Amino acid sequence: MSDEALSNLLREDRRFPPPAELAAHANVTTATYEQADADFEGFWAAQAERISWGKAPTQVLDWSNAPFAKWYADGTLNAAYNCLDRHVENGLGDKVAYHFEGEPGDTRSITYAELTAEVCQAANALTELGVKAGDRVAIYMPMIPEAIMAMLACARIGAPHVVVFGGFSAEALATRIQDCGVEIVVTTDGGFRRGSPSPLKPAVDEALLECPTVRNVLVVQRTKQDTPMTEGRDLWWHEFVGKQSTQHAYENFPAEHPLYVMYTSGSTGKPKGILHTTGGYLVGTSYTQWATFDLKPDTDIFWTAADIGWVTGHSYLVYGPLANGSTSLMYEGTPDTPHRGRWWELIEKYKVSILYCAPTAIRTFMKWGAEHPEKFDLSSLRVLGSVGEPINPEAYVWYRHFIGGDRTPVVDTWWQTETGMHMISPMPGVTEGKPGAAMRAIPGVVVDVVNDEGVPVADGEGGYLVVRKPWPAMLRTLWGDDKRYAETYWSRFPGAYFAGDGAKKDSDGDIWLLGRVDDVMNVSGHRLSTTEIESALVSHPKVAEAAVVGATDETTGQAIVAFVILRGDAGDGGPDVVTELRNHVSKEIGPIAKPRQIMVVEELPKTRSGKIMRRLLRDIAENRELGDVTTLTDSSVMHLIKENLSSSS
Ligand code: WT7
Repeated sequence: MSDEALSNLLREDRRFPPPAELAAHANVTTATYEQADADFEGFWAAQAERISWGKAPTQVLDWSNAPFAKWYADGTLNAAYNCLDRHVENGLGDKVAYHFEGEPGDTRSITYAELTAEVCQAANALTELGVKAGDRVAIYMPMIPEAIMAMLACARIGAPHVVVFGGFSAEALATRIQDCGVEIVVTTDGGFRRGSPSPLKPAVDEALLECPTVRNVLVVQRTKQDTPMTEGRDLWWHEFVGKQSTQHAYENFPAEHPLYVMYTSGSTGKPKGILHTTGGYLVGTSYTQWATFDLKPDTDIFWTAADIGWVTGHSYLVYGPLANGSTSLMYEGTPDTPHRGRWWELIEKYKVSILYCAPTAIRTFMKWGAEHPEKFDLSSLRVLGSVGEPINPEAYVWYRHFIGGDRTPVVDTWWQTETGMHMISPMPGVTEGKPGAAMRAIPGVVVDVVNDEGVPVADGEGGYLVVRKPWPAMLRTLWGDDKRYAETYWSRFPGAYFAGDGAKKDSDGDIWLLGRVDDVMNVSGHRLSTTEIESALVSHPKVAEAAVVGATDETTGQAIVAFVILRGDAGDGGPDVVTELRNHVSKEIGPIAKPRQIMVVEELPKTRSGKIMRRLLRDIAENRELGDVTTLTDSSVMHLIKENLSSSS
C-alpha cells in the first residue's frame, strides 16, 4: 500500500460503538481482557473447560522446548467425541448441526445424532481399510457434508487429515500427498459449480500416477456423472461406508496428538505443511467462535462462507462450531447461481444470525449492487465477520449498512493458517469499531508491532506484526521440517512469532494490517507465493525466465501479474502464447493461480546481485511512474520493458 493510501486510511474517523442490547448480554466484556492480562495461564486453563477431556490436563503451557510448544500436554481427549457424541449425550441429538444447501437447490438438515452415526460409519470404514492412529488421509472434495464427515472420522481414529482445496490441480494434490505420505484419499465423482456438474475424480487418478503410498480411494457419489473406478483400489462411499455399523468406540488421544496438516504457500516455492494438534486447537477454536462472534449456541445460526479447503473452513465451519454445539449453514456453490441474491436468499431462508466471509466477496457484492440484498429479509443477522485480508473502509461500511442494516458490529478478524484461531479482532460487545482496523489482540493473545531491531514502535508508527506469547491453537511445526519451522517463524525476532505481515499502530494504539512483507500474495483472500507461480511458468518449455508480482486489484485485493522471457527457440511464442501459459499455471497449481496478465518481455530488471526487482515490476503492473532504477545492472531495461508494452498494447 502506498504511504498516501495508508494515511488516508488512518484518517478514517467513522466510529461504530457496540449496540447496547448486544453489549448488555455480551460473552466478552472488559473484565475478560482484565482476567486474561492478570493471569495468562489461569485464563487458558479456564478456557480448557469448554472441552470434555478423557483425562483432564493439569498443565497449561509447556514452553520448555521453545519454539516447540505443548498445550494441556498431560490431558487426553477425542476431537470427534467433543464435536459429536457429547452433545447427543447432553440431550442435543435432535439439534441441527448443519443445514446443507447444494448448488442445484437440494437440501439436507443433519442433526447431531445423525452426524454422529455417519461419522462412526466412516470411522469404521477407514479402520477396515487399515488406517491407524497417526496415518494420513487426504480429503479432496467439494463443499458437501461428507467432506466434514470424512474429517471427523479421521479425527475420531486419530488419523491426521490433509484437506486439499477441490479447486487445486492434480499436480498440487500429488505434491501434498507425497510430502505427507498419505495412504487413503477421500474424494467425489464431482461437484456442482455454476449450474453444471464438474468432475473431480479424474484429477485424483492423474495425481495417483505419481503417488505409490496411496492404497485406496473412497469416492462419494455427488453428481452421478460417469466416473472411472480402478478395481481393487477405488470404493464407492455409499457402498463401503454405507454398510458399516453406526456404532464406533472412540479412543482418547494425548492433547498433542496431530489433528491435521494443512498446506499453505510460503515465500519459497514449496508449500508448507502446517501441523495442528488436538487439545489446544479445539480450545482455541471453540473459545474464539464464542468470543469473537458473541456466539449464543442455543439460538444462533452461524454461517462461515469459506471452503473446507482453507483453514477458515477447518476452524469455523467444522471444529469451533461443532465443539460449541452450534448450528451452521453449509453451502456448496457460487454466490451468483442461479442469481446474484443467492446468499441473501439463504440468510432469509435459514435465519442466519452470524455471517463470516471475505472482503473480496463483499467487494463483489458491492459491484453487483445493493438491489440484490435489498430483495431479502436480512433482519436475523446480528454479527458480521470479515477474514483473509484487510477490509477496506468502504467495503466495511457497505457491509454494515446493506447487509447488517446498520445494526450489526463488523468484526475484522486477523489470523493465519498457522495461528489456527483468531488473534486480532474487535469484540462485538466491547470494541468501538473503526472501518479498516482489526483493532486489538483478543483476550488471551499478546501481539505487538516492532521495528527492524525488534523494538516496539510508538503509537502512530508502523513495523512488523509479532506475537509475544504462545497460544493454544498455534501450529506446532511444519510437517517433517522442524528446522524450517524455527527459521520461518521464530528466528527473525528472537522469542517472538514473526507473522510475515506489516502493521501500524494508530494514535490510539489500535492495529491496522498492511499486507505481507514477504513474497506472498493475497488473491481473493488466498495465499499464493510468487515463487510457486514463477516455478510453474518456468516448467513450461517455452519459458526461460519468469517474475511474478501481486498488483492491486479492485475486486480480488491483489491480482497476479507475470513477466516472462521466452526461450530463444520459442521465437515469439505464437499468437496464443499468453493463453497457453495462463492455462499451464492453472493446470500446475489450480485456477485460482491463473495470472490476470502475462507480459512477454526481453529482459527482467535485476540488482547487481541478481535479485529480480519486483518493486519496479509492480510499478509497471499498477501503471505507476517508475521508482528508483539506479541499483539495476542495466537501468535501460525498465524503459525498454515500458516502451515495448505500450507499443504492443
Ligand atoms: C494471511 C494469512 C486466516 C484465514 C484466511 C487466510 C492475511 C488474514 C486478515 C485480516 C488483514 C489478513 C494476512 C495473513 N489476513 N486475515 N483480517 N486483515 N490481513 O489465511 O491463507 O493463512 O493467510 O492473510 O496477510 O498473514 P492464510
